[in-house]
Amino acid sequence: MANVRIFYGSTTGNTGEVAALIAESLGDTVEYVRDISCASVEDVSGAEALILGVSTWDDGQLQQDWENFLPKLDEIDLQGKPVALFGLGNSYGFSEQFCDAMGILYRKIVQRCGRVVGFWPNEGYSFKASDALVNGHFCGLALDQDNDRAKTPDRVRRWVDQIRGDMAV
Ligand SMILES: Cc1cc2nc3c(=O)[nH]c(=O)nc-3n(C[C@H](O)[C@H](O)[C@H](O)COP(=O)(O)O)c2cc1C
Repeated sequence: MANVRIFYGSTTGNTGEVAALIAESLGDTVEYVRDISCASVEDVSGAEALILGVSTWDDGQLQQDWENFLPKLDEIDLQGKPVALFGLGNSYGFSEQFCDAMGILYRKIVQRCGRVVGFWPNEGYSFKASDALVNGHFCGLALDQDNDRAKTPDRVRRWVDQIRGDMAV
C-alpha cells in the first residue's frame, strides 16, 4: 500500500477525531495526519495516496477550512492518484443534506482526475437525500457522530480493510 497522508477539516473536532481513528487503523502506511487549515499545496500534491475527511455545515456546504482550500486543489494534478474520502454529517438533523460536503469534494477530485476509492453502501443509515451518493453508493465513508457514534469504530475498521487493497499502487 502506498504511503498515505490524511487531511481533514473539522469545526468542532469530530472529523479530526475520526481522522485519528482511521490513521490508527491503517498503521504504518500513514505518513501523517494534518488539519487542512495547516496544509500546503505541496503537502497534498506530494502524497502517494490521500485520505480526505470533511464535515458538512450550513445546509449542505463544505466545512470552512475545506471551503478555503478548495481553490488550491485546482493547482494540484491528481492524475491517477488514489484518493479515499470520508464525511461527517447529521443524518437526522440534516436528513436532506446528509454529508453533502463529501459529494462536493468528490466532484472536485474527479475533476482533477484523482482515482477515487472507498465507495460505501448506504444501507444502515437513516437519511432522505445526500449529494454524496454516486450510483447508489456513498462516494466515501459516511459517518454520523451526532447520532450513530457507536457504529463508527466498526464502520471505520471495515472501510479501512476495503481501501487497503484499493489504494495499493
Ligand atoms: C449549524 C450546523 C449545520 C450543519 N449542517 C449539516 C448539513 O447540512 N448536513 C449534515 O449532514 N450535517 C450537518 N451538520 C452536522 C455536522 O456536520 C456534524 O455535527 C459533524 O460531526 C461536525 O463535524 P466537525 O466537528 O468535524 O466539523 C451541521 C451542524 C451544525 C451545527
